[in-house]
Amino acid sequence: MKIAIIGTGYVGLVSGACFAEMGVDVTCVDIDSKKIEDLKQGIIPIYEPGLKNIVIRNTEANRLHFTTDLASVINDMEIVFIAVGTPSDEKGTADLSYVMTVAENIADNMTKPLLIVTKSTVPVGTSFRIKELVRNRLDSRGMQNLKFDVASNPEFLKEGAAVNDFMSPDRVVVGVESERAEELMTRLYRPFVINNFRVIFMDILSSEMTKYAANAMLATRISFMNDVANLCELVGADVNMVRRGIGSDTRIGRSFLYPGCGYGGSCFPKDVRAFIKVGEAFGYEMKLLKAVEVVNNNQKNILFRKFSQYFNEDIKNKTVAVWGLSFKPETDDMREAPSLTLIDSLLKASVTVRAYDPAAMNEARKYLNNGIYYATDIYDAVQGAHALIIPTEWKEFRLPDWNRLKKSMDDYLVVDGRNIYNKEELASHGFTYSGIG
Ligand code: UDX
Repeated sequence: MKIAIIGTGYVGLVSGACFAEMGVDVTCVDIDSKKIEDLKQGIIPIYEPGLKNIVIRNTEANRLHFTTDLASVINDMEIVFIAVGTPSDEKGTADLSYVMTVAENIADNMTKPLLIVTKSTVPVGTSFRIKELVRNRLDSRGMQNLKFDVASNPEFLKEGAAVNDFMSPDRVVVGVESERAEELMTRLYRPFVINNFRVIFMDILSSEMTKYAANAMLATRISFMNDVANLCELVGADVNMVRRGIGSDTRIGRSFLYPGCGYGGSCFPKDVRAFIKVGEAFGYEMKLLKAVEVVNNNQKNILFRKFSQYFNEDIKNKTVAVWGLSFKPETDDMREAPSLTLIDSLLKASVTVRAYDPAAMNEARKYLNNGIYYATDIYDAVQGAHALIIPTEWKEFRLPDWNRLKKSMDDYLVVDGRNIYNKEELASHGFTYSGIG
């Protein structure tokens, strides 16, 4: 089977590499020629554990190809996936211009039947818009008899665990409206079915809806727990105990109940906003999700508030070490990271920032410019610091040498945005600990 994947961002590149790993002949297409040249040589534009090896192995095996020229490959393909970005526009609606440009490009170059699959996260109804656009353009080229199908196949992979999520997903959701599309998608995902997980076929609108609903539900759980954590602090309860107490109810489940300094990344914030907009487009107010967003935006300020309150708002010219900049561990992705909100507030309050991240230092420079000191490691970051603040729970932060830290710091506050430390243990080393909840 031959397929093309258009867009070599997170979703496109991981999907392409993983399909190739399962024996499919995959061509990844992108308009960014530098990126394509790099990928041909095994240079991966993102930090994602395990991805580089798969890309190199499958490129060498001649199953994974990279090109900027869609027109020259499209008519060899049975399936083409659209996996380009759908960023928020200024109102929070998903911007479909990249998706639609790709659809135009497909329509203007195809001469054989094709299955066009949307993998990008798109507002409900987009696959039908693509269908209409392609039909109109084919008709205007005099190709009324050329048949094609559309399908929706949202992607649920997590950054930092993308390869594993793709290779062994909990489920694969496919929205179809024709037998031909169902047959092709069944064939494509058969190697994964052997590994014993489910492909769930449904109609296209339900499939598009599923992706937003899944992300919105997870974001809701996190904001709910952040609210519970904040209330725990006020009443004197321990949110970790409450989390264990409720998570062991199988109806609730344990995952995505960790309170923290807010969710970030390329999906939750953008998709929650876009889902609210889908509601508006149909005259429905997604009240709960609006609250989820408010809670999250508020939570992103919590690290700064805790630091500032500890010093009775007298923080001008203090120095803060920030460990962890990416929106979560095992990625260099800085999009909507809580660290950005924290550092912005610190700089506005004339606090000196010494930051360190195991993977995101280069990305961080694009977001933070030169207003901060980029430390070489965790110990360099704390030199002369009055407080240590942790927005991201990288593993290498879990067991630091507290005595060494103590010697380097000028004051001893630790604000733990992901609850990775133990209050009593830190107190025994002479630190004041402040976690979430
Ligand atoms: C998410 C979805 O999990 C994935 O299915 C979808 O395809 C894309 O969006 P991702 O953005 O890569 O994936 O990260 P994820 O691991 O889900 O974390 C999102 C954010 O939530 C992070 O900022 C993380 O720190 C935060 N989070 C997660 C919490 O604050 N508490 C939790 O319990 C879990």
